[in-house]
Amino acid sequence: MTDQLRSLALDALTRARDRTAALTSCVDDRDLTAQHSPLMSPLVWDLAHIGNQEEQWLLRQVGKGEALRPEIDSLYDAFEHPRAARPSLPLLAPAEARIYASDVRGRVLDILERTAFEGGPLVDAGFAFGMIAQHEQQHDETMLITHQLRKGPPALSAPEPPAHDIGPLPREVLVPGGAFTMGTSTEPWALDNERPAHRRIVPAFHIDTTPVTCGEYQAFIEDGGYHERRWWAAEGWDQIRQHDIGAPLFWRRDGGTWLRRRFGVTEEVPPDEPVLHVSWYEADAYARWAGRRLPTEAEWEKAARHDPHTGRARRYPWGDADPTEAHANLGQRHLRPAPAGSYPQGASPLGVRQLIGDVWEWTSSDFLPYPGFAAFPYREYSEVFFGSEHKVLRGGSFAVDPVACRGTFRNWDLPVRRQIFSGFRTARDAQQPAGTDVGGL
Ligand code: AVJ
Ligand code: FE
Repeated sequence: MTDQLRSLALDALTRARDRTAALTSCVDDRDLTAQHSPLMSPLVWDLAHIGNQEEQWLLRQVGKGEALRPEIDSLYDAFEHPRAARPSLPLLAPAEARIYASDVRGRVLDILERTAFEGGPLVDAGFAFGMIAQHEQQHDETMLITHQLRKGPPALSAPEPPAHDIGPLPREVLVPGGAFTMGTSTEPWALDNERPAHRRIVPAFHIDTTPVTCGEYQAFIEDGGYHERRWWAAEGWDQIRQHDIGAPLFWRRDGGTWLRRRFGVTEEVPPDEPVLHVSWYEADAYARWAGRRLPTEAEWEKAARHDPHTGRARRYPWGDADPTEAHANLGQRHLRPAPAGSYPQGASPLGVRQLIGDVWEWTSSDFLPYPGFAAFPYREYSEVFFGSEHKVLRGGSFAVDPVACRGTFRNWDLPVRRQIFSGFRTARDAQQPAGTDVGGL
């Protein structure tokens, strides 16, 4: 078991570094140090921040080693410097940042070899190594967002997602009411906010079989959805009026056709692909227009994990096996979501598709701790973000590596955000026959 976890940790760290290298070697130094959007750091900040987090947790804490470059900690502390201010810091230059990150990694690989995977929560099951691999992959997704915001000719390319036999699909499925197990206490590399496992009662509801598509979203636009106050939450209405928003980010109308920019290429908006780059407010307004609502976070997780035949919570919609290329569109293998209904092998027991991969899915829920939550190993990962300011996103996008994506994984962001790889699916209450017991605890 330990040997297996150790080789999983080595694989995950190596895969993350390969991804980081790909994202930072495809543009020149000027591009690496430029700020492509005030919402994002320069790519070279992410690069050295990745190395610095790895130094702090794996080299200093786990390896009990001497600090390599303690003087740069504060430069790469995300809480000291907002993203917009990072370009004016005395950051490591690209060549220096690469050398730094690889120096740290060289030492960490020795530490990985000699560290016992037991003896405390940081090292048990190799947690800190898994955490740092996830951290790097999260920044790899952040860097991909920076690439999407970057102007100029394309720097990245990837093959199209494979075609799947989608078949006729019901629009929605009924998830029966009752208790299910939310969160985890056993997944070795689950982060603090996914813990602990606990029972939740979720009344019966219907949920879309697939994420909402660009074609469906266009119908909302054509119906004047962005101009009807009644579909919008107050702050959402203010945002779209103030910034004159009338379509997902990166979309533009050209005569009768919708075009979008995707990693430097302008193309027609594909009607059958899950819609991407919408804010929580846009998702919420669409759902209201459609006579529906966003799923709660608990509904989303129940749809993704609860097996109604056994009553067990699965690690993923398809079961407990780690994701493969047949299950989900993950890991930046393709630089876009796959058409709605793809990946039939990744479906849940009730037939819900694409819960994992393709697009992050907005839920109606605020980002809150589970009962029994304990911050670990640092408060700034989750705890300082709890509250009504942030909404939860679930399921992961095409840009997320499998190591940072599980049925229990929780992401969060401000409801105005739309540069992220965000989409959504909708839900509705199921009519409960009178006298039905939804408890079942
Ligand atoms: C969990 C994606 C919201 O990018 O702000 C990276 C992940 N935390 N470094 C973020 C994270 C610290 C985090 N999200
Ligand atoms: Fe970080």
